[in-house]
Amino acid sequence: MKILVTGGTGYIGSHAAVELQKKGFEVIIVDDLSNSSIEVIGNITKITGIKLVFEKIDLSDRESTRAFFKQYPDIGSIIHFAAFKAVGESVEQPLRYYRNNLGSLMNILEGMEEQGIKDIVFSSSCTVYGQPDILPVTEDAPIKAAASPYGNTKQISEEMITDVTRVRDVHCVLLRYFNPIGAHESALIGELPLGVPNNLMPYITQTAIGKRDFLRVWGNDYQTPDGTPIRDYIHVVDLAKAHVIAVERMLAGKSEKKIEAFNLGTGIGYSVLDVIRSFEKTSGIKLAYKILKRRPGDIEKVWADTALANRDLGWKTERNLDDMTLSAWNWEKRLAGL
Ligand code: UD1
Repeated sequence: MKILVTGGTGYIGSHAAVELQKKGFEVIIVDDLSNSSIEVIGNITKITGIKLVFEKIDLSDRESTRAFFKQYPDIGSIIHFAAFKAVGESVEQPLRYYRNNLGSLMNILEGMEEQGIKDIVFSSSCTVYGQPDILPVTEDAPIKAAASPYGNTKQISEEMITDVTRVRDVHCVLLRYFNPIGAHESALIGELPLGVPNNLMPYITQTAIGKRDFLRVWGNDYQTPDGTPIRDYIHVVDLAKAHVIAVERMLAGKSEKKIEAFNLGTGIGYSVLDVIRSFEKTSGIKLAYKILKRRPGDIEKVWADTALANRDLGWKTERNLDDMTLSAWNWEKRLAGL
């Protein structure tokens, strides 16, 4: 069975490609390499020992996407990761985000219709919940007004797919990620931020390796036990495995509805200082950091209710915060040639 993984040279897509191959699926990766490197393909193959197909295509280009689907008429299912994901950049360049993230999804949905592909797993985000009123947040919590064009593309994408499933023989699993961090145990694949990282984990590891002077902790005056914001950090390998289960669920016809949404988190909230402490423990390095004022747009706290994913997907996370920070550190060290 051939699975199309869009954005498969990216951070989460590459880990999902590994887990798919381990389960015996044939993987076709499509990526435009706008935010990733071709070397990832070789590293996936190094981990699994299995070859895969790679096509460099910009999926927001309708004709190239149509030609791709014609060339590969026997795709069984799709996992759609390919998208821009920098929140701040999306505020600066909204149209670029809408064109890329929504255009590529439309082209893929058209391709599915033309080729009779029935199943798609969509890479969504807990950002659709905003700051939830009730924690842990369940999948039926209200979708809040998006705080950024990036977040809005996730909400609109969920709606676009929902509309298509109403009138076509298409099934979808929406996976709402909490905060994916960490890297593959082999340290051959991981997160590769271009330029200065915005997210916490790569900023920590780059500070520890000496690329950044110190971590800026964005505020310690939140209503949380230590004053820093709380997130549900999830190991990227645990996250990747859920995608394989979602693909298998749809292929086996086990979906209860044509469109299902699942939270992917651990169900445990950790503060920024908790993550720093875990990193210091697993790396043995004292991290330089300063407490600064709040970052605009940050929410105070969010963590997942994972009961639905645990029950319906039969999935649960197996890696804890220390596994996440240690694997992220091993990856950073490998990038530095250490
Ligand atoms: C953000 C996005 C989310 C997106 C995710 C991954 C929002 C509301 N959410 O999540 O949609 O999917 O990035 O791209 O924008 N922190 C610091 N110093 C830093 C970096 C982060 O203190 O240098 C803190 C933040 O204040 C936050 C926590 O670390 O409390 C996690 O931040 P980050 O990794 O950027 O993820 P989110 O903002 O939760």
